[in-house]
Amino acid sequence: MKKFKKLICDTDDGSSTIFLPDLNEYYHSKHGAVSESEHVFIKNGFYFWMKNNPNRRCCNIFEVGFGTGLNAFLTNRESKFMPKINFDYSCIESHPLELAEVEQLNYDTYLFDKDNIFNSIHNSKWNLPVKLSNNFSLLKISSDIQNYNFELNTDIIYFDAFCYRVQPEMWSIEVIGPIIDSMNKSSVFVTYSSMNILFEMLKDLKLEVEKIKGPSNKKKMIRAIKNY
Ligand SMILES: C[S@@+](CC[C@H](N)C(=O)[O-])C[C@H]1O[C@@H](n2cnc3c(N)ncnc32)[C@H](O)[C@@H]1O
Repeated sequence: MKKFKKLICDTDDGSSTIFLPDLNEYYHSKHGAVSESEHVFIKNGFYFWMKNNPNRRCCNIFEVGFGTGLNAFLTNRESKFMPKINFDYSCIESHPLELAEVEQLNYDTYLFDKDNIFNSIHNSKWNLPVKLSNNFSLLKISSDIQNYNFELNTDIIYFDAFCYRVQPEMWSIEVIGPIIDSMNKSSVFVTYSSMNILFEMLKDLKLEVEKIKGPSNKKKMIRAIKNY
């Protein structure tokens, strides 16, 4: 993917996102960036896994497409309610944003970030794990996912790539297969997409796949559980 012009804009819930005019593509739903992330990743990924794995004391999360860092930020906020669980959050990004772009996003004020975590997320070095809070460490990997060698055993996958129209290669078995291989038993894969190609691929990979209610007026999203 080459570098495209970026515009910062507001979504319907008042939180900001990034728009790529050349691709006519947003980083989040224009109906609400924070509400989409909370619904797709936090409620249906993070809390779903917590409910199904009540005895686990550590949790490895992997995000595809770190982008604005919103999902890392929201996940860190929730981790504070679970001080007995250690979270290792890894995320991959091929085109990190410039700090000047990040500074125009309003997530810190929108979500009352009194500990300045959003800044810490963006100021932390790439490719080095950092402790963001007592029970949460962050590893931002600067790479194309196609060149990344999965060594982690993951519990939760946040798959937040651009849509199929813009980047069909991200929704291919070459990208998705190694991600699924990295997943532990009883782990969960969530994405905002409800695309049939993905649904069938995950089914072929022997995951228990469902289309569930999506955020706001998006009808469905996909969640898949790996039971082996
Ligand atoms: C939908 S946006 C990210 C949304 C992000 N999770 C957020 O909350 O801001 C998709 C992201 O995937 C990144 N991306 C595109 N191709 C990639 C690749 N091959 N490997 C890793 N990241 C990629 C883009 O640069 C972009 O930041």
